[in-house]
Amino acid sequence: MRVVILGSGRGSNAEAILVAQQEGRLGRAHVVALFADKPDAGMLALGPRFGVPASYVDPAPFKTKLEGEGEARFIAAVRAAQADLVVLAGFMRVIKPGFLTAFAGKIINLHPSLLPSFPGLDGIGQAFRRGVKVTGCTVHGVTLEVDGGPIIDQAVVRVEAGDTLESLAVKVHAAEHALLPAVIAKLSAG
Ligand code: GAR
Repeated sequence: MRVVILGSGRGSNAEAILVAQQEGRLGRAHVVALFADKPDAGMLALGPRFGVPASYVDPAPFKTKLEGEGEARFIAAVRAAQADLVVLAGFMRVIKPGFLTAFAGKIINLHPSLLPSFPGLDGIGQAFRRGVKVTGCTVHGVTLEVDGGPIIDQAVVRVEAGDTLESLAVKVHAAEHALLPAVIAKLSAG
């Protein structure tokens, strides 16, 4: 199963996937390309480190969604990589029908809350401020509804009395780093 990862930032989840692959925990999946919509995305540094092609793809003209020429460039890049699975790992753009139909049923997204609670931006901060005692992360299939597609798997994180937003974020990210590679491995097993 050929996996393409799309991201916008740090790339800690892309790194967790690549480490899982190195350690033989990614099943029949292997990462064939990394694409970022920001030229300075930390994720791009993972390419040389793990020997995977990593490139910036210009998402213009829109700021928060993937549509128009930028969408066409992303579709062409992912097609050229012959992806069987497209993993959105911190890809901070709303997916529109063009990209969705180009890779129908093949796109999954990682979200840092227990969906359907706290969709959208800053899922960890939303959960912390609401005072929930249990939060976590979700991997789901991507549909046109933002963070609304079918849930594939979730991991639970308890919010302890002494937790700060920062300590909670560390725990949610650790849960993500375990969950996402495990889901990819399971999907690769059919
Ligand atoms: C992750 O926490 C992911 O769940 C979140 O962005 C972070 C990316 O971190 N995604 C969203 O909030 C999407 N709505 P990373 O760049 O270190 O993998």
